[in-house]
Amino acid sequence: MIEVGLIGLGNVGQGILNIIQENQALLTQRVGQPIHIKTIMVRDPKKYNHIDFGDSKITTQFSDLINDNEIKIIVEVIGGETPAYDYICQALEHGKYVVTANKEVVSKHQKTFFELAKKHQVDIYYEAAVGGGIPIIRSLKVGFSANKIESLLGILNGTTNYILTKIEQDSQEFDVTLKEAQELGLAEADPSMDISGLDAAHKLVILAAVAFKSNIQVKDVFYEGIENITLKDMKYAKELGFAIKLLALAKHVNGKQLSFKVHPTMIPLSHPLANIHNEMNAAYLKGNAVGEALLSGKGAGGSPTGSAIVSDIVDIAFDHTQDVNRRNLEPNLKTADLCPFEDTDSAFYIRLKVNDHHSVLEQLLGVLAKAEISVSKILQKEIQNNIAEIVIITHPTKEHQMAQSISELTDIDTVKKCCSVIRVEEQV
Ligand code: HSE
Repeated sequence: MIEVGLIGLGNVGQGILNIIQENQALLTQRVGQPIHIKTIMVRDPKKYNHIDFGDSKITTQFSDLINDNEIKIIVEVIGGETPAYDYICQALEHGKYVVTANKEVVSKHQKTFFELAKKHQVDIYYEAAVGGGIPIIRSLKVGFSANKIESLLGILNGTTNYILTKIEQDSQEFDVTLKEAQELGLAEADPSMDISGLDAAHKLVILAAVAFKSNIQVKDVFYEGIENITLKDMKYAKELGFAIKLLALAKHVNGKQLSFKVHPTMIPLSHPLANIHNEMNAAYLKGNAVGEALLSGKGAGGSPTGSAIVSDIVDIAFDHTQDVNRRNLEPNLKTADLCPFEDTDSAFYIRLKVNDHHSVLEQLLGVLAKAEISVSKILQKEIQNNIAEIVIITHPTKEHQMAQSISELTDIDTVKKCCSVIRVEEQV
């Protein structure tokens, strides 16, 4: 019997209990022995009176988990940095294997966890921390291990993907769509981590270690959220043959440096990620042997996240039965040679409101020409009260060149407003 201690009994905790109950026979066959949740730690046991725990014991004391010699694996599904960090460190120090769904604590402390696990001859698994039920981490570690990963693009946040899908499908602005998503329970009451791109940035930090063996922190990831995406930009993007997605992008630059960014991105409607809708997550990668590959599925929710957690338990239990371990650690993390954000390349979509006047286009193009920014498409959209809307798509240029040009464009007298600047990835 593999005895497990569970910390937290929200949606994900309950998902884990259900999966183990429902699939017990199958899991036993796979592992060679039954998986049993022996003890569950919660803050307020009264809240869970309605749940059937079988013979699992409920406690409010962490010591009941770490001091129990029968418990081999501790599963943490409370989220957040504190107190999860302490629980994970103590569990590893007590020689327990750890499984966690916690992207924040893993992205901030993975190196410490790997070192502690190695020292105490155990392991830490965190498949559920990125992409919920999609086995992104296991695929990168095992399935694509023959490859140099050339680039990785992810839709790693379900809330923002849902909102962007609904802005487009229901022709609604961002604020209305967010409110609806909150009412439906599809966005958190405080959705700021999701909306701002920070949640996806945490997940990208974890993937940087798995796919590129790079030890980075969130401060090394440029991230920008979806709060300024308008219905109009979404419509113009579609007219021009693009979808707008919040992408996490990891790429090699100049053959030796790496760049990690999260931002709203216009991608061709024909790109596989353009068809990932609603709360679905996906990772699209290019490996030097496999070529292009796409993984997609549900990135959140009790059952999909529980699926990833139970799969991690199965992996550990299998190792335990076979007497092998420490297969999941990243012992050789390097300090990454990061390309400074200002020097990374992107094409850009720019929407400006200008006076409908002769020579305005010449002025706009003059600013771009001075920065050696080449234009790929230019459109004049609606004209109202002598104000015209101009949409420009550029060829790739450096971030610093674009930032300088935007500032110069807004200084032109006839330019009334720079309404939007969105990065475009045509060759991904
Ligand atoms: N808040 C996350 C999302 C859920 O919307 O994708 C799991 O990380």
